[in-house]
Amino acid sequence: MARPGPIIVGSGIAGLYVALRARELGLRPTIITKSRLEESNTRYAQGGIAAAVGGDDSPELHLADTLRSGNGLVDRRAARLLTDEAPRRIADLVRFGVPFDTVDGEVALGREAAHSRPRILHAGGDATGLQIEETLRHRAVDEGIEARERTVLRRLAHRSGEIVATLAHDDGTGVEETVGRPVVLATGGAGGLYQYSSNPSITTGEGIGLAFRAGARVTDLEFVQFHPTTFYHEGAPRYLMTEAIRGEGAVLRNDAGERFLPKYDPAAELAARDVVSRAIDQEMRRSGAACVWLDATAIPRDRLYARFPTITRFLARYGLDPSRDRIPVAPAAHYTVGGVSTDFDGHSSLAGLYACGESAATGVHGANRLASNSLLEGLVFGERVARQLLHPTSGTPSTPGREASVVMRPGRGKPLDDSSFNEVRSVLWEEIGIVRTGPGLRAAVRTLEAVSAHVEPAEPTDVPLPGANAVLTARLIATAALTRTESRGAHWRTDHPRPVAAWRIHLGLVRRPGPPAPRPRRQPLS
Ligand code: SIN
Repeated sequence: MARPGPIIVGSGIAGLYVALRARELGLRPTIITKSRLEESNTRYAQGGIAAAVGGDDSPELHLADTLRSGNGLVDRRAARLLTDEAPRRIADLVRFGVPFDTVDGEVALGREAAHSRPRILHAGGDATGLQIEETLRHRAVDEGIEARERTVLRRLAHRSGEIVATLAHDDGTGVEETVGRPVVLATGGAGGLYQYSSNPSITTGEGIGLAFRAGARVTDLEFVQFHPTTFYHEGAPRYLMTEAIRGEGAVLRNDAGERFLPKYDPAAELAARDVVSRAIDQEMRRSGAACVWLDATAIPRDRLYARFPTITRFLARYGLDPSRDRIPVAPAAHYTVGGVSTDFDGHSSLAGLYACGESAATGVHGANRLASNSLLEGLVFGERVARQLLHPTSGTPSTPGREASVVMRPGRGKPLDDSSFNEVRSVLWEEIGIVRTGPGLRAAVRTLEAVSAHVEPAEPTDVPLPGANAVLTARLIATAALTRTESRGAHWRTDHPRPVAAWRIHLGLVRRPGPPAPRPRRQPLS
């Protein structure tokens, strides 16, 4: 009998790639996405995808940069797989038709922060994510892969040893169960839970919350990466200004016009992302300004417009010409380093549930992801998941150095309204941002628990209403950040301002059921 094909949740690079490879391996995958097929974080990725394909580069150098960026917490075996397998996965993208940019017939390689070599492949200049997403999506459609839009995974459970996924339309109709079909979470990260983010609004981390609710372990959620340079304009959503611009020679200036990064790190504008974000944050706090300035005026105009067509077009809407004008920028939430714990073949701690891409945590990024390793992770670990789907083996994520439990108390089962969601977004931004404080983290946990009491189902067996899994993910981020009493990489606390050797471990979170909700008193019959 043919093995049931996987349900793949999410249509970014990881979801589309797993679907295409599963199809090539003879399986019949179904992609579901809560939005439109084309909408995902992948589409907005600008800079590119890292792989050691240049003449003076090697996977060892890429590995060394990945390890350095991760501040002592990178799982070396995961990073070795990532960097060794990168060139083969790039070859897959080329085979699928991704039109990477070239110079004189050779692939063009850009430079980004904390990379010791130019190794960033890009497409359409600064439209790499868009080009990849469109290519893979069209290919999936051509291959006849079943794709269901506006469809959500509402619950995961086990019945008679088989994984059961409850799917429904986003309006709650058309509820359907799949039994025994492997489920691959490729739902991306939780950047959209922050008030200011480079991510599209759909990135609310619901896949992570849903997996946790079903009993899967999550790890490393305290490490939320902030991109140093998103376009700042009061009242407008943030928009990524790729760090490839700094790779081409742009510098950052404070409100007084001074180039400030050299005083924070010898690598200046090409220091690791956490360092640059903190430096900007410090400059903004010192001056009281709402932004700093990205100065690309030293880059020749032709080069700037040819290499960054998306960004120059975007800036023109604000009347800005980056060959002449400085660009107002500020950091914003960008990437969720942690996620559903998996081994290197995508097995979560829940049988039948796999995860890959930004929603997964393999330990490959340590405490701070190296630029342009994220699209790559979707491919490398997506490939490994696709092979598992064909020839499943048992596997389980390694046990983290420390595990904390999160109590799941029944709530009032109300839908998450806009004002509560805005409260969640603002508490994450204010208290679990670039620089965190002990009191701020404790306040965040309290606020999120209060919102949670409102939206958690009244009975553990009830299907949570929309928004409950997003709030749960926010709670997990807050709990993890409060628990890790040190500063490392993207997790920085003023009350524990240094890395601590004993914390050179991963932090896992597991679910603990709370006491049942108080039963409403029976009214006496009159
Ligand atoms: C960028 O283009 O700056 C973002 C790339 C990444 O997040 O790796």
